[in-house]
Parts: sequence; C-alpha cells; structure tokens
Amino acid sequence: MRVLHVAMECFPFSKVGGMADVTGALPAALGDVGIESRVLTPYYPQLYKEPLGREIAAFDVWVGSAAHRVRLFEAEPFGILVEQPTAYDRGGVYDDPASGKGYGDNLFRCLVLCQAARAAVRQGIFPADVVHCHDNHTAFVPVYLKDDAGPPSVYTIHNFAYQGIYGAADFWLTGLDPKRFHGHSAFEYFGDLNLMKAGISFADLVTTVSPAYAKEIVTPEHGHGLDGVLRHLGDRLLGILNGTDEKVWDPATDPHLPASYSAAKPAGKEKCKEALRARAGLETDPQAPVVGLVSRFTHQKGIDLLGSNLPWLVRAGAQVAVLGNGDAGLLDLFRGAQGRWPGRVALLEGYDEALAHLVYAGTDIFCMPSRFEPCGLSQMYAMRYGSVPVTTKMGGLKDTVLPFDEERRDGTGVLADWATIDSLQGALDYALTLWKKPQLFRRMRRNGMERDFSWKRSAEQYAAAYERVRRK
Ligand code: ADP
Ligand code: GLC
Repeated sequence: MRVLHVAMECFPFSKVGGMADVTGALPAALGDVGIESRVLTPYYPQLYKEPLGREIAAFDVWVGSAAHRVRLFEAEPFGILVEQPTAYDRGGVYDDPASGKGYGDNLFRCLVLCQAARAAVRQGIFPADVVHCHDNHTAFVPVYLKDDAGPPSVYTIHNFAYQGIYGAADFWLTGLDPKRFHGHSAFEYFGDLNLMKAGISFADLVTTVSPAYAKEIVTPEHGHGLDGVLRHLGDRLLGILNGTDEKVWDPATDPHLPASYSAAKPAGKEKCKEALRARAGLETDPQAPVVGLVSRFTHQKGIDLLGSNLPWLVRAGAQVAVLGNGDAGLLDLFRGAQGRWPGRVALLEGYDEALAHLVYAGTDIFCMPSRFEPCGLSQMYAMRYGSVPVTTKMGGLKDTVLPFDEERRDGTGVLADWATIDSLQGALDYALTLWKKPQLFRRMRRNGMERDFSWKRSAEQYAAAYERVRRK
C-alpha cells in the first residue's frame, strides 16, 4: 500500500512543534510494516538549506482568481517538497518571527498546499491508495479528493485548539461554489469558515494523537464547539498514540551530547548535566536537582504555573533551566526570575534543536504542566533521556507517564491532578522528596528510560486504519 502524507511542517525540512517530528518519523515506521509513503510539505528556503533532489513536476494551482506556479522536488528521505516562493519563502512556518503573529495570508498558504496535493494525486505523481492529512492546514485535501472521486483520506488532529478559522468572505479562495458554505454546512462555524470542521467532515476516518485526547475532545469542555461534530463520527474517530524516532532521540547515540549514556550505563548523564549548567550559567551544585523544560511558550503548556512555583523551587534547593520561545509575557517572567536568582534559574531563549537535546539530557526533572496535551512528545524524550517527567494528567500525558509507586517501585513520573499552581507544587514537591531517596529516584528514572516509545505499535494501528478506509 502507498500513502501520501500532507503536512505544513515535517522534520528535517521544517519544525515548529511535535507535528513535524511525527510527520518526519512516521514514513520510516510505516515502511517497517510494509507501507510505502511520502510527505508532501512546503519547501521553506529560509528554513531548510540542504540541496533539494530531482524536480518531479511543475504545474499551476489556482487559489481564488490567481494561478500560482508550483514545482515539486524530491528530498531525502521521504519528502516531496512544494516550492512556491510567494507562499513559502518566509522566515516562519505559521508566524512571522518579527511580530510573533500569524501571517495574514495563511489561508492562501494552506490552500496552495491543498491544491498542490490535489494536483499531485490527480497526476499520479505518487500513486497513493490513501492520503493522510495532518491538522487544519491540510483540511481541504479531503474535500477536494471527495469532489474528484479520488482516493480515501485519513485526517489527523494534532491539536484541536488550532482550528484554522477565517472570515466567511474568504471562502471564495477555496474555489468551491459559495452556496456550499451557507446553512449548517461542513465549512461553517458560527458564521466563519472553519478548516478543522471541513477536514473532520470530509475525511473517511479521523484520528487524533492519543487515546485519552480522543476521549477528551468529544466533551464540551475540550471540544472547542466541535465536540458534537466529533461525537457524530462514532467509531470513525480513533486515538493512536505518537511514538518517538529512536534514531534521533537516543542518549546512547545522540551527536548533540557531550557524553553518551543509557539505562544500563547511566554515568554519562552527569557530564551532560554539567554541560547544561555551564551553557545555562547555573552554579555547580552537585546536590541540586536540575528541573527544566523545552517548549513553545503558550498558554497550553502551563509555563506560567512553573513560573509561579519558581520562588518555592529555588528555596527548596532546585535549579531551573528552561528552553523556549513564544509568548513575550511568559519569556519576561523567566527573564525576571533569572535576574533575581542568577545561577539558580536560567532562561535559554529561542528555538534550538541541538540545545533541546542537551536540556533533556542535562535535567533530572522535566516539568510539563500542560492545560491540555493532545499527545506530547517532550515528556517521552525526557523519559528516554532520564529526566523524570512531572506533568498534569491531560491527554497523551496520562497515556505515557505512569505515576511512580514507591511500594511496587513501578511508574515513570509524577502526575499533578490539575493544571494549577498548587497542584503542580504538590507534584514537584513529591518529585523532590524522591530525589532525596536516591535509590527510588534512580529506579523511577530507569523505568522511564526502559519504556518502549517506538512507533511500531502505532504504525500497525495506522496500517489497520488505512486498510479500513481502502476497503470502504
Ligand atoms: P507541541 O507539538 O505541542 O509543541 P510536543 O511535545 O508534541 O509539543 O513537541 C514539541 C517538540 O518541539 C519537541 O520535539 C520539542 O523538543 C520541540 N521544541 C519545542 N520548543 C523548542 C525550542 N525552543 N527549541 C527546540 N526544540 C523545541
Ligand atoms: C501538537 C500537540 C502535541 C502533539 C503534537 C504531535 O502540536 O500539541 O501534543 O504531540 O501535535 O502530534
């Protein structure tokens, strides 16, 4: 079977968050279960500097009343890159790095990708049995494929909070008859155009990235007004847990680390911790646990909850190192704390792939107090790198972090019941208590490092999903 993925971001060609890791890793994992796949994704020349492969097609796509020239290039290992300079020759994937705001023409940029996917399928450039679309940016692919009587589609929700909402007046850009918008249509959402709704409604099967999140988003509390549409899907909504790419995320072979280590030979982790301290400007203090995170700084991630716990954490003797970019207010919070507690709190500001690896390796405790979390990859990387996760009980965090039990000595982390300052403090407090019982802490750390976060099981579940829509 052949599957064409369509996604706005894909590692190593581009990356904003976990979706890029997923679309970058899934093709190889699918290959292991006998599915050949490619990822159709924009070519952002300012973000990806490696040479492209062979040019495989050139055609015009229509968005609104204008035609735009598109060229497709192969790119190792699984990429089909869409070159369209007007749309993609920018410094960011979704947001303008100068202002931090979304580009004003993001709908146009999404539709270029959707129309390129449509043309690629029509022209048989990669003869796909199934087209797998990722998040709202690609939501018009299922629509166009249905109109063209093309192959079936699977649509994956990576983050239900970003729905792709645009003014109704923009509907004409899609090239569809305006009559299709009005009434209680698959496109309309409180008078606006909602891409997520279109994707969910037209795809043959909808998946999301963890079983727990699949249960959450059908409730009014987490359904962003579309829970009814999701409930209507019944068994056409599946939760398939993300995996991690073990070639990229393994402390035993990671080229970004000053020393390698594993569950069986953990000694090198100390060296990584010293390197992180040096890099972040933290004092040498062998007794202190280093608490950290790597994250987009947004409301979702509960960064403020960690920020509010900083005075307490510093008093408790911990050191803190966070890596991230995004919300200016949240960055200010940590900048201020760094000034107040130099050598104890450090903000590593920006997006830095190599440094992220060092933070996972150099921390003892990884804090991820998300208010909601579709899956989350960071907590899995943290466990793999021996940084014990302290997280909330949301979505994929609940599916991947097992609470530590002192008697049974099983479990891999500590879960806060709620995304509140107090609940997080309770969870951090327990993690610090365990830190002072080194045998137990080492056991918890080792449990996490030994867990299987590979893609194997999930790739099999996707294979079954593809088979299901193909038979249909
Ligand atoms: P999300 O996709 O919601 O951001 P995930 O946990 O699924 O959350 O994935 C986040 C990915 O982005 C991880 O690979 C993480 O290491 C990476 N990441 C987040 N912020 C940064 C940053 N500032 N620098 C480098 N990598 C980052
Ligand atoms: C989204 C979610 C995150 C998930 C990632 C990959 O960005 O916020 O939880 O891990 O997509 O599916």
